[in-house]
Amino acid sequence: MIILSIETSCDETAVAVTRGGREVLADEIFSQTDIHALYGGVVPELASRNHAAHIGRLADMAIAKAGVSKRGIDAVAVTNTPGLIGALLVGVNFAKGLAMALSVPLIPVHHIRGHIAANYIAFPKLAPPFLCAIVSGGNSIIADVRGYTDISIIGRTRDDAAGECFDKAARVMGLGYPGGAALDKMAQTGNDGKYALPRPAIEGRPYDMSFSGLKTSVVNIVHNAKQKGEAIDDPSLAASLSAAVSEILVSRVMAAAQEYGHSKIAIAGGVAANSRIRADFVKASEEQGRALYIPPLSLCGDNAAMIGCQGYYEYEAGNTAGMDLNAFAAMDAALNH
Ligand code: KG4
Repeated sequence: MIILSIETSCDETAVAVTRGGREVLADEIFSQTDIHALYGGVVPELASRNHAAHIGRLADMAIAKAGVSKRGIDAVAVTNTPGLIGALLVGVNFAKGLAMALSVPLIPVHHIRGHIAANYIAFPKLAPPFLCAIVSGGNSIIADVRGYTDISIIGRTRDDAAGECFDKAARVMGLGYPGGAALDKMAQTGNDGKYALPRPAIEGRPYDMSFSGLKTSVVNIVHNAKQKGEAIDDPSLAASLSAAVSEILVSRVMAAAQEYGHSKIAIAGGVAANSRIRADFVKASEEQGRALYIPPLSLCGDNAAMIGCQGYYEYEAGNTAGMDLNAFAAMDAALNH
């Protein structure tokens, strides 16, 4: 089955063509990061306008690269939740038009389910059940993946995502936007115990997380030092922050794996690139004897191949939509709508 898939939930316009779920024939992406970097964060209206401007050419490029004809497309999959509503609507309406013109099924895909499916592309033998952490600029979620379409959230951030925390800290440290990767690099030579940063816990919700207090702590440390004319040890502040985020995340994921009885742990989302988080997950998984799956960076960030892959399993489960399909900004705990 050949699926053309579309992802426009945030600031990446992406179109892919996949075969049989896990085989990627084309994976085209236009990242708007440079456009939004001017404003220090994603500007929703600009994201929507850029999706509208680029989606058509990306679809043409994906179809050409995949070497299929438009008539060879068996279904169209599209991210319809969660994300920026205007951005999602561009993709949903483009998908509807294409599915209608080609008279093929339309498959709605939950963005977080897509991130989980990136692991199926990277690791062809991986199958549920497993525990998956999705950590990106917009999400920090721990999901219990019992089946390809039987997934629920068991932990999530109560405020900022881990990536947002890294990005805001990086910005106040003068590392630009999005500065997570630069902060990671800077942390390599730092002392991770130099700055005392909070590790908040949420009473009664052992797998939920909070990163906004951590973000504010870093901002306050930098501002206070500036006011007093004191120098900041940037590498050590970066290392201390990386250690705190990693501890918050890794401890919860490993405890959840234990409680839910998962022998396999998968990590998805851009923050999975963080070297401290990777190293801590590798160590903890080895200690507990659990298998660890971290996809390559190209599949960790937003892309359409993962939407096509999950779309295949949604189709198999009978989850198709009509021309009344809508987009939703927020998600529910069962990862449905
Ligand atoms: O999944 P992703 O590509 O997309 C969105 O969330 O839109 O994640 C991007 C996030 C950004 O916050 C970025 O700063 C962060 O992932 N990131 C990192 C690293 N590489 C990317 N954060 C920490 N360390 C890294 N090495």
